[in-house]
Amino acid sequence: MRVVSGIQPTGRPHWGNYFGAIRQYIQLQDEKQAFYFIANLHALTSVRDPQVMSDYTLNAAIDLLALGLDPQRAVLFVQSHVPEISELCWLLLSGTSMGLLERCVSYKDKVEKGLATVAGLFTYPVLQAADILAYDSDVVPVGQDQTQHIEVCRDIAQAFNHQFGEVFVLPRAQVLADSAKVPGTDGEKMSKSYNNTIEIFESPKEMRKKVMRIATDSRPMEEPKEPADDHLYQLYSLFVGPAEREAMAAKYRAGGFGYGEVKKAIADAAETFFAEAHRRRAELVADPDQVRAILADGAAKARTKASEVLTRAQTACGIKF
Ligand code: ADP
Ligand code: TRP
Repeated sequence: MRVVSGIQPTGRPHWGNYFGAIRQYIQLQDEKQAFYFIANLHALTSVRDPQVMSDYTLNAAIDLLALGLDPQRAVLFVQSHVPEISELCWLLLSGTSMGLLERCVSYKDKVEKGLATVAGLFTYPVLQAADILAYDSDVVPVGQDQTQHIEVCRDIAQAFNHQFGEVFVLPRAQVLADSAKVPGTDGEKMSKSYNNTIEIFESPKEMRKKVMRIATDSRPMEEPKEPADDHLYQLYSLFVGPAEREAMAAKYRAGGFGYGEVKKAIADAAETFFAEAHRRRAELVADPDQVRAILADGAAKARTKASEVLTRAQTACGIKF
């Protein structure tokens, strides 16, 4: 069983990214053969500054390693270091109907958010299909927003197989639990696009400042509150075990305490939770050659598999003979 997933290097990871995606990726490395890559080719449609692109890419790798991705267990690489992907993408593009891509909601969403209407954004699901099919992947762990792309990938693979024989393995999406849930500083879903994020690797001081500024309702302190509906309680729950969670829930139900106290508890718990990752990150930043070596090793492993699949596809459609 092989899992594959890509992470776009479009910013620094926030708490939502961690609990909604990265944590699950890391857990999966123990269960299945995992291929994870930094999707820099996908990010090219939005990141147009070369320095920012290379910084974000290397930092994304450092962040994943610091958070516990183990290169002995999972294959970690940069998408563009596997040129077979771009070749395979063209083979897939030539058989992908415009209608299939026109039905994808992500293109419209991204254009609405201000991204340029470039061809690469429109054909982005085909590049994603190449990413998945190149490694004979069975399972693709993704957030809910990406499930349509996995369906598109299956359609593209089926069309190719139908025309040229059984070349591609059909993958399935594994929707990450809780992938839509982490609230941001305004109580809405945490997201880069809403400017309400708290980054995993900001300094504890900055993190604390942001936590103390999280929006709250104006109910009086004395009033008992239902914890499950409250975004501060939801955030606190991410960082602590069941006993602490229960103790906090009891305080909510009893009333007579302020949100300031919960915020302080969140900041303390978050700092402890990510302390080890912060320490590991500092070590990795001090040794970028080690990170580059890990990525080179990952790309070599990924290319071995991708070139096998590419040859299969090229032979099937008659361009390799
Ligand atoms: P953003 O919304 O900040 O641009 P991305 O779309 O790049 O985040 O998300 C990358 C991954 O992190 C996706 O799998 C997504 O489902 C997950 N994710 C992002 N924000 C949250 C959140 N607030 N809660 C849970 N998961 C999230
Ligand atoms: N499109 C995904 C996103 O924006 C990133 C991605 C690129 C990906 N290629 C992939 C995810 C292949 C899963 C499999 O989050």
